[in-house]
Amino acid sequence: MNKDKQPNILFSSEQIRERLATMVGEIEKDYRDKELVVIAVLKGSVLFLADLVRGFSRPLAFDFIGVSSYGNSRTSLGLIKMEKDISIDIRDKDVLVVDDILDTGRTLGWLKDHLNKFGPRSVKICVLLEKEVDRVIDVEANYVGFSLPNVFVYGYGLDYRDRYRHLPYIAQLGDNEVPPGEKSLEE
Ligand code: IMP
Ligand code: MG
Repeated sequence: MNKDKQPNILFSSEQIRERLATMVGEIEKDYRDKELVVIAVLKGSVLFLADLVRGFSRPLAFDFIGVSSYGNSRTSLGLIKMEKDISIDIRDKDVLVVDDILDTGRTLGWLKDHLNKFGPRSVKICVLLEKEVDRVIDVEANYVGFSLPNVFVYGYGLDYRDRYRHLPYIAQLGDNEVPPGEKSLEE
């Protein structure tokens, strides 16, 4: 066990808090005269959603959709599986999809097409993180918390093997590294 190792924190909880306050301001301004429905993608967006919506002063509704595209390690499976669909009516509503990270674009590309089938007035995308990589599916986020190069990150909703989502910060994991406290790869 690498107990003494410290996480390589890319974005602290303080940085995230400050960035979210700015994002809420932008989103509220854009949705001034609209009926906002937030659709959050399980499970990675849960901490982000909870902190984001707390900042809104106008009424909004939110719901969840469950999709997975990743295996339980670091590489995308390339397949989208829907585990839970939305259960509120989004017809003629202005939908904001909230997700943890835009990587290959497969998840959000699929989601946009899926949600458009319900006849919303608009669908925009808000992500906490955006990886600066070539997208497999051409999809753009309308609101981005932070951009980062093609590195693996965990914490604040993002998992490493389905754990560490609870951490209040976002940390980077090197190629042959595991999070502090996790059994090392050789053990
Ligand atoms: P995409 O479909 O390739 O854009 O990937 C989106 C999903 O992959 C995200 O919602 C995450 O669940 C997962 N993902 C992508 N990059 C990372 C990462 O660096 N750490 C943890 N999960 C990630
Ligand atoms: Mg994941």
